Amino acid sequence: MLPTIEEALKELHIAGELNPGPWVKHSENVGIAARNIAHLVPALDEDKAYIIGLLHDIGRRVGIVNIPKHVYEGYKYCTDRGRDEAARICMTHSYVFMKDEFNYDPETLEEKEIKQYIISCGAADEYDKLIQMCDALATDYGFVILEKRFVDVTRRYGIMEDYIKGWNVIFEIKEDFENKMGCSIYDVLPDIGKTTLLNSKPWTPPRQEN
Ligand SMILES: [Fe+2]
Repeated sequence: MLPTIEEALKELHIAGELNPGPWVKHSENVGIAARNIAHLVPALDEDKAYIIGLLHDIGRRVGIVNIPKHVYEGYKYCTDRGRDEAARICMTHSYVFMKDEFNYDPETLEEKEIKQYIISCGAADEYDKLIQMCDALATDYGFVILEKRFVDVTRRYGIMEDYIKGWNVIFEIKEDFENKMGCSIYDVLPDIGKTTLLNSKPWTPPRQEN
């Protein structure tokens, strides 16, 4: 069962009060990108795309957390509320290679559960792919072309094994959606030309007062 758009927006707002940061605006923009793209893909429901986009990072409500932690927290949060479709996206959005991400034995219980879940999903479905791609297109200050986002992230965190393979997965998803839409994904992302040319400084968390 999916929450309504109003419920999803409200939950994101509450989560943003619990853990303020650019992730909240980023989540809103992932929702908008997913909705606009889904609008032109006959097999996709644009309201569902919007809602799962808004909630994909909801696990960040518990604090500034790494990939397995925010994935797991989001999955738990949605599952506890009976929202299986949103829970799935909380899991799959960070693993573009799906089961192939897990050719190792995870150490923590959380990661073991993530591995089991992702394996049980099989291949990525259209909604998994949509949010994996929109996650890369949407920043807190708007939409940017994939090349820009990939370079920004790599400059910030360094190049890691399989990065370029991951980029290629996202470019394949882009081409696939564009064939279904009959236009470029960039045609439906407001002001992408302008925001792509902006240079925004990396965000740093506010200092805690003791
Ligand atoms: Fe995200």
